[in-house]
Amino acid sequence: MLVTGKEILKHAHENGYAVGAFNVNNMEQVQAIIEAAEETQSPVIIQASQGGLKYAGVEYIAGMGKIAAEKASVPVAIHLDHGTDFKQIMACIRNGFTSVMIDGSHHELEENIKITKQIVEMAHAVGVSVEAELGKIGGTEDDISVDEKDATYTDPDEAARFVEETGVDYLAIAVGTAHGPYKGEPKLDFDRIKVIKEKLNMPLVLHGSSGVPEESIKKAVSLGINKINIDTDIRMAFHKAVKEFVSKNPDVYDPRKIVGPARVAMKEVIAEKMRMFGAAGKAWR
Ligand code: 13P
Repeated sequence: MLVTGKEILKHAHENGYAVGAFNVNNMEQVQAIIEAAEETQSPVIIQASQGGLKYAGVEYIAGMGKIAAEKASVPVAIHLDHGTDFKQIMACIRNGFTSVMIDGSHHELEENIKITKQIVEMAHAVGVSVEAELGKIGGTEDDISVDEKDATYTDPDEAARFVEETGVDYLAIAVGTAHGPYKGEPKLDFDRIKVIKEKLNMPLVLHGSSGVPEESIKKAVSLGINKINIDTDIRMAFHKAVKEFVSKNPDVYDPRKIVGPARVAMKEVIAEKMRMFGAAGKAWR
């Protein structure tokens, strides 16, 4: 069942859980996500970054997402992760994405507001939901990198003004997580999540959530995080399974045999995240 990002995250916001938003570049990842969502009866967001779209092509990602959503018994939204390119955002909307992110976080506040507002006006005119980012989340997500020293936490007062002026549907906040693998254990600013949630009373998004310990994720969800982005943990599950298979079976050349076990491994990681986020059993029809 294909739904908008707003519908899926409104339900999560009202019912106190988080929807997993999982990055995809290929068919096996899409299938792993849908299988996990059906097994756990979780609403889910399939998302692709600009890099993912460049790799697979927007039509392929949208096509796979739509087929997956139509076949699935659970609510599914198709989302653009970290959009910065106006033309690409429009291409996603045209191809059937039900949610887009405009990431203007590398700009000054006024410019971020201006760009976000423009995308919100256009996306809302055709029923597509919008995520924006305020503050700067560290680390690397495909072709977007933010140095640790340049990462800045989201200011709650600025966030209130940002949402009021842009009309954005959900907001990605910087509270101590970073994209990519962690060197040490990430420390989340829980007080900041709480204050922002109280001020905004809307769905909040946590990026860079791979490798964040279970207790921290659960606490963040209890304080008001409703969308949790996972990419690195899925990539790692894929890599581990393919590496294991190829090292044990160096002469097998059938792609289905090589990638099939990785699809199962990814599904297991994703289903575990859905349970951790409190999304299991929350699907509606
Ligand atoms: P991870 O690299 O922690 O999986 O984060 C993914 C993400 O936030 C995508 O926007």
